[in-house]
Amino acid sequence: MIKKLAGVLLLASVIFTGTCAVDSEWGDEAGYSLYSDIGAYINNNPIKSCNIEGNTVVCAADLENYGFSVIWDGRNRLVKIERGTKGITPQEKVYKDAKRAGMPAKPYLSTDIRAEMGGKTVQCYNIDGRTMVRFDDLEKFGEVKWDGVQREICLELDRLPMAQKTEIEENPNVVTMYASDGRTITVGTDEVEKYKAVNWHEDISEVTATLYAKDGRTLTVFADEIPVYLKLNWYRSDPNAKMVALTFDDGPSKYTEAILNQLEKYGAKATFFVVGNRVSQYSDILKRESELGMEIGNHSWDHANLTKLSESGIKAQKTKTDNAVSAVTGKNTTLFRPPYGSKSTAVASAYNMPLILWSVDTLDWKTRNAKSTVDAVMNNVKDGDIVLMHDIYESSARAAVELIPKLIEQGYQLVTVSELGNARGGLKNGTVYTGIRNN
Ligand code: NI
Repeated sequence: MIKKLAGVLLLASVIFTGTCAVDSEWGDEAGYSLYSDIGAYINNNPIKSCNIEGNTVVCAADLENYGFSVIWDGRNRLVKIERGTKGITPQEKVYKDAKRAGMPAKPYLSTDIRAEMGGKTVQCYNIDGRTMVRFDDLEKFGEVKWDGVQREICLELDRLPMAQKTEIEENPNVVTMYASDGRTITVGTDEVEKYKAVNWHEDISEVTATLYAKDGRTLTVFADEIPVYLKLNWYRSDPNAKMVALTFDDGPSKYTEAILNQLEKYGAKATFFVVGNRVSQYSDILKRESELGMEIGNHSWDHANLTKLSESGIKAQKTKTDNAVSAVTGKNTTLFRPPYGSKSTAVASAYNMPLILWSVDTLDWKTRNAKSTVDAVMNNVKDGDIVLMHDIYESSARAAVELIPKLIEQGYQLVTVSELGNARGGLKNGTVYTGIRNN
């Protein structure tokens, strides 16, 4: 049972009040903990939970209150979870975690602690010093049921009474905020100031956006007027100021989420050249890319070298990918990047879309090193550059999280490839683009 989620969870303080020393923000093998809109129950009693890489997880220590015996073996750094004899202790109110979509995903750290359930080793994680285990693994002790409509996961332990089911409530310590491009996020009340500093608003009537014309005029409009002005040759980004298009190939993947979080936080855009056969597995992530206004490009169905295919073979690669993308986003892809950058006249004409290569090659796939990826960009970037990265590596996601504020600080507007093209005369089907400079 896989629960994929589209947002981010920063674990609310009501959930994890424990403190722990975390050496680095990312840890050595950090991953991303995601928000959860899923309620978890044991015999209908709500239990605090969150989401790691598509799995609902609970704190091992909390299981003590739910009829389990939880024993810490410090010598072996082992948490042993067994079915106990105790009943279930009613808990204080359990809240669902907030959807804090604008913040970087909170990293969880690798752990040297092992966990066993019923004598068998199970996967565990460390969040803020707490050992977390997968709810699914509790099926060793009883029946785990998933209710996809209510978005609830329930464990039924026999020999213990079933409680009256109580609805898990949304967290009251959160506030909805608004951005000028129509995005909304829910953040903790303690985070409101931090978000205001990066142009989020508590009051929707405050939300305006600045639009730009080629002749240097600017205009402030309310958020809902933006589409009208865009049709009248106004631009979201200043066409006369520095622009860079970050592009990410070969995804979507589980690392894409962290990149999206950072782009969203800074109101930045990027282009994702997706591989069609990955879309069904990561449809929630693709959907979020689209909802955030990112551009979706076509990077073939299965990363084939298109120069080796027949015309109908090339067209099939394009169409299958378009169909998969539009089934999720409602829109076809707008741009094309051939796998390996491998192109020919036949490939370009069969695809018949703007053919986007790059002007800054980070070689992130080769180095798998966040610092060299960041350096490759910061040491070379110029106005009009198209930067090549891959959202299938953790190192690339880390690099992107670092790069986004750095580039903005240097005065670059982070735009989609089409936005860059539109500001500079438009893109033509079948034409090859590397960087797109101002003439
Ligand atoms: Ni590729």
